[in-house]
Amino acid sequence: MLKNDQLDAWDRENFFHPSTHLAEFARGNVPQRVVAGGKGCHIEDRDGNRLLDAFAGLYCVNVGYGRPEIAEAIADQARELAYYHAYVGHGTEASITLAKMVLDRAPEHMSKVYFGLSGSDANETNIKLVWYYNNILGRPEKKKIISRWRGYHGSGLMTGSLTGLGLFHKKFDLPLSQVVHTEAPYFFRRDDLSMSESDFVAHCAAELEALIEREGADTIAAMIGEPALGTGGLVPPPEGYWKAIQAVLDKHDILLIADEVVTGFGRLGTMFGSEHYGIRPDIITIAKGLTSAYAPLSGSIVSDKVWKVLEQGTDENGPIGHGWTYSAHPIGAAAGVANLKLIDELDLVRNAGETGAYFKKVLQDAVGGHANVGDVRGEGLLCAVEFVEDRDSRRFFDPSQGVGARLNAALLSRGIISRAMPEGDILGFAPPFCLTRDEADEIAGKLKDAVAEVLG
Ligand SMILES: Cc1ncc(COP(=O)(O)O)c(C=O)c1O
Repeated sequence: MLKNDQLDAWDRENFFHPSTHLAEFARGNVPQRVVAGGKGCHIEDRDGNRLLDAFAGLYCVNVGYGRPEIAEAIADQARELAYYHAYVGHGTEASITLAKMVLDRAPEHMSKVYFGLSGSDANETNIKLVWYYNNILGRPEKKKIISRWRGYHGSGLMTGSLTGLGLFHKKFDLPLSQVVHTEAPYFFRRDDLSMSESDFVAHCAAELEALIEREGADTIAAMIGEPALGTGGLVPPPEGYWKAIQAVLDKHDILLIADEVVTGFGRLGTMFGSEHYGIRPDIITIAKGLTSAYAPLSGSIVSDKVWKVLEQGTDENGPIGHGWTYSAHPIGAAAGVANLKLIDELDLVRNAGETGAYFKKVLQDAVGGHANVGDVRGEGLLCAVEFVEDRDSRRFFDPSQGVGARLNAALLSRGIISRAMPEGDILGFAPPFCLTRDEADEIAGKLKDAVAEVLG
């Protein structure tokens, strides 16, 4: 086996890491970790550290690490047929079965699923489908896409534009001109603290309406949103938000894309976030939880309404000019089938809901009373603790103090992986669905100690 110091050198010399401070990494100032194994909610590195992964990788290893059922399904598929494409009507038993399993779980009015590889490419597909849709309907001007500030939809050209976080735009010449952003449904961060939750919902809907008015409804094709904000801060929407937003979109004939890359397949304690919040999307994006990240696979689930127009489009224009070499890759599809079966067999969606509610309560009990804790929030196994300098006035810390990153490091030193969210001092928790109450207690207890260490 290679020594870690040799791997560390190779790593610095050769490996371009995503979302990393490249210069600091090259100088050796970013800690390296060579991850070697995992079981349940824990990962292990090559130095023998065992860590409780309370963010499930990048909130994707939903069934937990080390599931032999999925590993065997992947190995069997690789032995039998590692690859064949899905163009011009080709498929495999795994990809066709998975399409059926996805549609069986999706809202009733959904019709078909297109498989890609990542959440980003699925959202790129969605935007192309929406543009195609309006061209077929003879509305070539209706093309802009509304997204929310703090939304996260990927880091491609279009999807990085949809993402409403400055870091993903800065110096990349993004966002592209077809994307416009509106208010984030982030009640805790509302500008006017005197607003009630229902005032704030009315404000978000009015902001959306005003944006549509400014741009012209006949120039706007779709709005994209995560049922509950993810990377932007792990924020469940205020009560009634989606009903109010959906009414505005319906009025102006604007499609809704529900980006369920994080919330799809159980994270909120329901199979889809759309179901959880009563959203009626025209397209649903899926990825992460589709395979629990045992292999890359994503999907765009298309509604009957959109599908009919796509069919009409191919009657008029020939085959749809969209596809990836690896669309519906058999190994990803085999992983997806085994993963969705396991979620059902172990009743993991229910566990995400029940243990999630317990987890939020123990987080609240552990740190909710601390003078620097402004908000403890969550839905299912998607929880966050947001820190402030002064609770009464909701004054945030100066970002230069790096409070979130320091808390994250203090928790890591106690063997717990959380995520310091990119904007604000927010610690995010999105553990695997097999989290036990003991593990939830352990995270909360260690968080309390970490908070005491960093903030007193
Ligand atoms: C809601 C959402 N959409 C899209 C993406 C992009 O997925 P990927 O990183 O697989 O491209 C992510 C990734 O975190 C996400 O959280």
